[in-house]
Amino acid sequence: MCGIIGVTGGSEVVDILLDGLARLEYRGYDSAGVAMQVDGKLWRARAATGTRSLDDLRKVVESAPAAPIGGIGHTRWATHGHPTERNAHPHLDCTGGVAVVHNGIVENCRELTAALERSGHVMTSDTDTEVIAHLVEEELAGGAGLAAAVRSALGRLRGSFALGVVSAAEPGTIVAARRVSPLVVAIADGPGGEALLASDIPAILGRTRTFWTLDDDQVVVLQPGALSVTDLHGAPVEPAVLHVDWDLEAAEKGGHDDFMSKEMGEQPRAVQDTLRGRALPDGTLSLDELRIDAAALRQVDKVFIVACGSSFHAGLVAKYAIERWLRLPAEIDIASEFRYRDPVLDRRTLVVGVSQSGETVDTLQAMRHAAAEGARVLVISNVVDSSMARDADGVLYTRAGPEIGVAATKTHLAQIAALEILALYLSQVHGSLPAAEIAAVLQSLQAVPGLVAETLQRDDQVAAVAARFTEVRDFFFLGRHVGSPVAMEGALKLKEIAYVRAEAYPAGELKHGPIALIEPGTVVVAVATRNRLWEKMLSNVAEVRSRGATVVLVANDGDEDTAAMADHVLWVPPVPELLSPLVDVVPLQQFAYHLARAHGFDVDRPRNLAKTVTVE
Ligand code: F6R
Repeated sequence: MCGIIGVTGGSEVVDILLDGLARLEYRGYDSAGVAMQVDGKLWRARAATGTRSLDDLRKVVESAPAAPIGGIGHTRWATHGHPTERNAHPHLDCTGGVAVVHNGIVENCRELTAALERSGHVMTSDTDTEVIAHLVEEELAGGAGLAAAVRSALGRLRGSFALGVVSAAEPGTIVAARRVSPLVVAIADGPGGEALLASDIPAILGRTRTFWTLDDDQVVVLQPGALSVTDLHGAPVEPAVLHVDWDLEAAEKGGHDDFMSKEMGEQPRAVQDTLRGRALPDGTLSLDELRIDAAALRQVDKVFIVACGSSFHAGLVAKYAIERWLRLPAEIDIASEFRYRDPVLDRRTLVVGVSQSGETVDTLQAMRHAAAEGARVLVISNVVDSSMARDADGVLYTRAGPEIGVAATKTHLAQIAALEILALYLSQVHGSLPAAEIAAVLQSLQAVPGLVAETLQRDDQVAAVAARFTEVRDFFFLGRHVGSPVAMEGALKLKEIAYVRAEAYPAGELKHGPIALIEPGTVVVAVATRNRLWEKMLSNVAEVRSRGATVVLVANDGDEDTAAMADHVLWVPPVPELLSPLVDVVPLQQFAYHLARAHGFDVDRPRNLAKTVTVE
């Protein structure tokens, strides 16, 4: 997720832009840039030196000509195209007279680029954002003013956006708009009366505490001391006013107490963005970005997944999906074990590495080993241009945005979504699943972000259940079928942030040993949503109940048969079986979160853990 800042008016344009970008730094970024209005022209500077980008940008901007009257700025977290200067925002049109900063994804970027190139436009980046600058250019050339040009251009975009646009032809004006991606505007307190624009409140919190929040498809014109908001047709609308009394640290967390709860709250977006432009409205999939062509994918006769931790659990879910939909053998291994056991691989094996960071050394080395053995290697990574993304033959990015909390939450859900998309795409390429079935699964997938959002809203209920277990030091987590990796992820969350022992088992395995540990008072958390093994799951629950266990069940809304077996229920909406982990894991994240908080632990920085593990 990128950051946007904009200002027009006053004498502190450079400071407001650069300080605003610095205040967005906590979100993570790989490049940064500004475009400023100076002497009737646009002046642009960009830097793509990773976390040094802002310092490097500051040096260039300090030598900027004359005093700018306004400008826009951006910190980029790459999603389309490498994190290079050429891809850093702002992007310009062919004339250099229009500059755009953008957060989000232009879904129909490929078709728009083709149409623009046919009309003679020349693209100078690999981003989806650049098409917006050229669309605005076309509208301006047709005689429209900047606001009308932006409104018309937006009518041609599919996807999500928060954007800011400036034109050399309209000094002192910024036009901004949003659909899905957040955007706020404000007038600064004090004599400057600057009109301000930001993707996140912290960027401009020092200048005012009163903001206008835009709704989807609203367009705002910023001029010194003035803001006016319209809908996409130019009809005036009254924006919502937000008064903020948080301090800067709370504002960085979006009003949440910590990044973990903020990032759990971002899960619907993370899943939606990961599906965007890949699961198409016509019920097919498009993964042109994959870098491995369909002919090569058709040769694949075995899939092997390698990953660690939460990424491994996402991979476990994918194993079920691949075997069911693709009807090919799917193996999975903990990355640190994989290469030392001499796996059998050849050119027809597709090895899929799954990694939020794309840097975890165990997974990186496992993928390198697979490549050396002749397998085709693909990575699911959240970080564009990560080591794994550079090494692999193919890459499919999750689009969860930077994750700051050490415990994986939104990236875990995005990984499951990306892996399911990959499994469906392979099924489409192999013809292993009828088109109608693929379309039906995609339709169900599209509903998942809403269901995740609904589940998140039940946080108080989960907190109340967690409050009953603050003194418990040992938990069992059980699941069957895709509920098993969900149980493993629930147990991992509890271990890593609440520091309590939590053992996860496929429930059928219980009777082969672990059941000896069940005694009155043992707490068993089980995923008992309605998958194909639900009845067997309830039999396993009955076994632990009869030995005196206290039972917490994740159950589908209204399922009283399941609730009757539980001491406490974590309710979730029903979801088709193979997609259910995307929803069923959410209350288990919340459960761990509330237990950790009850003990006063720092959920964002659990002890002994690093966000990226670069040692074996
Ligand atoms: C758990 C967690 C870790 C990571 C693991 C792999 O919450 O964050 O288990 O999932 O270290 O990291 P990546 O996905 O970056 O390879």
